[in-house]
Amino acid sequence: MKEWYDAIKQAQSVDKLEEIRISVFGKKGVLADEFARMKSAPDDQKALIAKELNTHKNVLTNEFTARKITLQTLELQAHMKAEAIDVSMYSTKSQAGALHPVMETMDKIVEYFSSMNFAVKTGNMVEDDFNNFEALNLPKYHPARDMQDTFYFKDEMLLRTHTSPVQIRTMMTTKPPIRMIAPGAVFRRDYDITHTPMFHQVEGLLVDKEGQVSFANLKFILEDFLKYMFGDVKVRFRPSFFPFTEPSAEVDISCVFCAGEGCRVCSKTGWLEVLGCGIVDPNVFEAVKYRNVSGYAFGLGVERFAMLIHHIGDLRSLFEGDIKLLEQFQ
Ligand code: DAH
Repeated sequence: MKEWYDAIKQAQSVDKLEEIRISVFGKKGVLADEFARMKSAPDDQKALIAKELNTHKNVLTNEFTARKITLQTLELQAHMKAEAIDVSMYSTKSQAGALHPVMETMDKIVEYFSSMNFAVKTGNMVEDDFNNFEALNLPKYHPARDMQDTFYFKDEMLLRTHTSPVQIRTMMTTKPPIRMIAPGAVFRRDYDITHTPMFHQVEGLLVDKEGQVSFANLKFILEDFLKYMFGDVKVRFRPSFFPFTEPSAEVDISCVFCAGEGCRVCSKTGWLEVLGCGIVDPNVFEAVKYRNVSGYAFGLGVERFAMLIHHIGDLRSLFEGDIKLLEQFQ
């Protein structure tokens, strides 16, 4: 028996101790063996042997329990030491959230027009043909509908391809005069380095009495706005076409990358196109049953503004949720 007392005392791990427990106390262990052997001992010695064996059993059990507690405690301490963390250590990086550059740009645009007393309207992302096209002087089969690759639902419902339908919704529900902008998401079936199927626009509309709103008013506010957004840039108006405005113009700013010198981004022209605008076409007023009014409208893409402000090359990178990119805008 002595060897087993020694074995328990010298066991170096809970696992080793468990092996010993099975060898000593198990069904086929030494104690079971001894008790079995006792049965073949002379009758007058059986009681004595049994007593002795029971004493061993009790003492061995106590030794075993004591050793087990000691080993468990040691193992726990070693484990905790290995996994210790220094809670007083400084972390290297703190992760603060920030506005996405597109939202930040949208906020800045809204801020400008709010200061000019334009109300902010939102409209609906799921639109009908009337608001998105028809009332904007884009009748069915009008070739200009092709410019806007539309996602259609059934029953002439669609995802709005621009924020211009908010003009219509506003005029249908409010009497003039109107000064509004409509920031929001729009959708087109398009995907490449300058197009994503969802992007953001801000539409603007001002309506007042007939003869009160001129192209000069439009020029003034857009020049002022673009200088607010891009700083000291040159602004030019180029004749263009939109079905909902007549006359129409596209507006360019001097290239923010080369200051108008001519570079890869502006295709060596020194100019970057940033928005479309014009005097509201009489057919649009006709569609919403406005009489004796005049107005101007404009529309712009927010992602394009954000890219030009932050010098971002690929539009798609704005939608990939790449933390490395977004971290730079905190
Ligand atoms: N809706 C046009 C587009 O999505 C942008 C636009 C251009 C809006 C000229 C206007 C405007 O109100 O006058 O491309």
